[in-house]
Amino acid sequence: MKRSLIYKQPFLYRLMMRILYGKEYIERFKTIASFIANRSSVVELCCGFGDFYAYGLKDKQIDYLGIDLSPDFVKQGLKNGLNIIEQDVNNFNFSKSDYYVMISSLYHFYPQPEIIIKKMLLAATGNVIIVEPIKNLLNSKYKIISRLALLLTNEGDGKNSFRFTEESLDRMMKFNFEKNIVKVRKTKKEKIYILKNIR
Ligand SMILES: C[S@@+](CC[C@H](N)C(=O)[O-])C[C@H]1O[C@@H](n2cnc3c(N)ncnc32)[C@H](O)[C@@H]1O
Repeated sequence: MKRSLIYKQPFLYRLMMRILYGKEYIERFKTIASFIANRSSVVELCCGFGDFYAYGLKDKQIDYLGIDLSPDFVKQGLKNGLNIIEQDVNNFNFSKSDYYVMISSLYHFYPQPEIIIKKMLLAATGNVIIVEPIKNLLNSKYKIISRLALLLTNEGDGKNSFRFTEESLDRMMKFNFEKNIVKVRKTKKEKIYILKNIR
C-alpha cells in the first residue's frame, strides 16, 4: 500500500482527527475502553501510534499489542513506550487474545472487510470491537473539505476513496455477522460494534 501524507506525519494525522472529532477525540477512546475489562489482553489492529492505548487503556493494566503498517506511526508509538509492531495485518499471525480491536480502519479492507473481522473473531477469546466512522471529511457536503481530505489521504492509487456510511456499515455487519453482534453503540460520528465468536 502506498502511504498517504497523513500516515507519514503523526502530527498532521492528529490535527485532522482533532478537526474531525474536536473535544470528542480523547473521550471516544475512553468510551471504547469501557468495553474492555481491566487486566485483560488486547490486540489492536491498525493502531496508528497508539492513541487508543494512551488515552483509553493505560490505566487498566492491559497486556497490549498494537500492529500498524506505517513506519512513522510505529516509530512514534515506540518512542512513547508502547508495544507496537510494524506489520501488514493481512500477514499477521492471529494469536489468541481476550480482545481484538480495530478503530477507524475497516475501510482500508474494502471491498472485503468481512475477511479481517472473521480472523479477529477466530482469535479473540472475548470480544471483537470494531469502531468505524460513519461521518467523515471525505463525504463532506462542502467540496473544498472533501477535496482537501482526499488530497491528504490519497495513497496515489485511487483505492482509498471508499468510506462507510451508517447504512453500508450496518448492511455489511448484518449480512455477515448478525449472529455475532452483542452490542451496537452509535456516537455522533462513528459506530461501535461489539462482536463475539459463537463457538
Ligand atoms: C485512520 S488511521 C486509524 C489509526 C488509529 N486506529 C486511530 O484511531 O487513531 C488507519 C491506520 O490503519 C493503518 N493501516 C492501514 N492498512 C493497514 C494494514 N493492511 N495493516 C496494518 N495497518 C494498516 C494505517 O497505517 C493507519 O495508521
